[in-house]
Amino acid sequence: MKKILKWIGGILGLLLLLAIGTAFYLRNTAQNRLAQKYEVQPKAIAIPSDSASIQAGQKWAASLCTGCHGGDLAGTEFFKTPDLGTINAPNLTPGGKGGLYSDLDWDRAIRHGIGKDGRPLLIMPSKDFQYMSDEHIGQIIAYLKNLPAVEQSWEAPQTTFLCDVLFQVGAFGDALNAETIDHTKPAHYAPQRGVTTEYGNYLVKISGCRTCHGPQLNGGKDPNPEAPMGPNLTPGGNLPGWGADGFMKTLRTGVTPLGKEINGKFMPWKEIGKLEDDQLQAIYSYLMAQPNLATAEIKN
Ligand code: HEC
Ligand code: HEC
Repeated sequence: MKKILKWIGGILGLLLLLAIGTAFYLRNTAQNRLAQKYEVQPKAIAIPSDSASIQAGQKWAASLCTGCHGGDLAGTEFFKTPDLGTINAPNLTPGGKGGLYSDLDWDRAIRHGIGKDGRPLLIMPSKDFQYMSDEHIGQIIAYLKNLPAVEQSWEAPQTTFLCDVLFQVGAFGDALNAETIDHTKPAHYAPQRGVTTEYGNYLVKISGCRTCHGPQLNGGKDPNPEAPMGPNLTPGGNLPGWGADGFMKTLRTGVTPLGKEINGKFMPWKEIGKLEDDQLQAIYSYLMAQPNLATAEIKN
């Protein structure tokens, strides 16, 4: 009997050692990925300086950047928990990181997900922004360079052991976009602006709707464990009955024609709703041109 207990104890001890070893291995691999330096030289593009371009850039930034970097783009505490650590979305104004950035640095950060120091940026959704055209990225950069300076600094990301292990097993989805972007691909093209499915497709891509509404847009889940499911946006969901006007109203007010309030913490309606009428109409026409799909089954 004693012998058997000893054996069991030994096996349990070995398993525990194995588990600890695996956790350290995962943590170290995660840390290596986070510390990797990327050398990417974006093609130089001409950054405009006229007021129409700066104004266009302001509109893009309002729908694409303010949700995480704050209304004045001076940064936010994007994420903070004692278990997982802190990730801040930094200050993009000339009083913060923006003051240090060259035109190429901006492009490298936005379309490639790589910081000025060559570090892959966490959370920053460059997998979506990579599809922006040279013209539109130029407008954004023109606007960012002309922001009023706000003096505010934020600490670099601090991730805990647990966070690194979870990240390494993929619990946060594609959180280091620099790893999956093809950095050698030439810039993407933007279709002519208008209420067309083609232009709608462009806006859906750069806005990252699929991150939360699924690869086929028929329902998906944000990697954030607290987030509710992103509903089916194809004709198989609620949208056909809304019409383009109901769709626009939903994204401007945060309340659907069915009377459901949309949680702005998990669905960036306040930002997406800043797109102009023709842009939201283009998105709606693209969504309604998708196959009529049943809502995806999402495991939580
Ligand atoms: C989903 C949230 C999110 C959105 C949307 C977002 N960012 Fe970020 N961004 C972040 C986070 C978080 C970081 C910090 C990542 C890090 O330090 O690893 C970051 C980092 C950056 C950096 C690098 C700054 C540095 O530390 O050197 C730049 C530049 C940047 N973002 C610009 C933009 C622009 C421009 C937009 C809109 C086109 C945008 N971001 C949209 C979350 C976001
Ligand atoms: C960060 C995740 C995220 C992104 C990005 C996102 N959504 Fe959502 N969306 C959600 C979630 C979550 C809900 C459900 C919110 C709730 O239940 O309160 C939602 C709800 C909606 C609804 C209401 C649908 C219904 O049937 O009630 C519409 C419409 C919508 N999103 C459109 C879009 C479009 C269009 C885009 C891209 C331009 C987009 N969303 C991008 C997470 C997201």
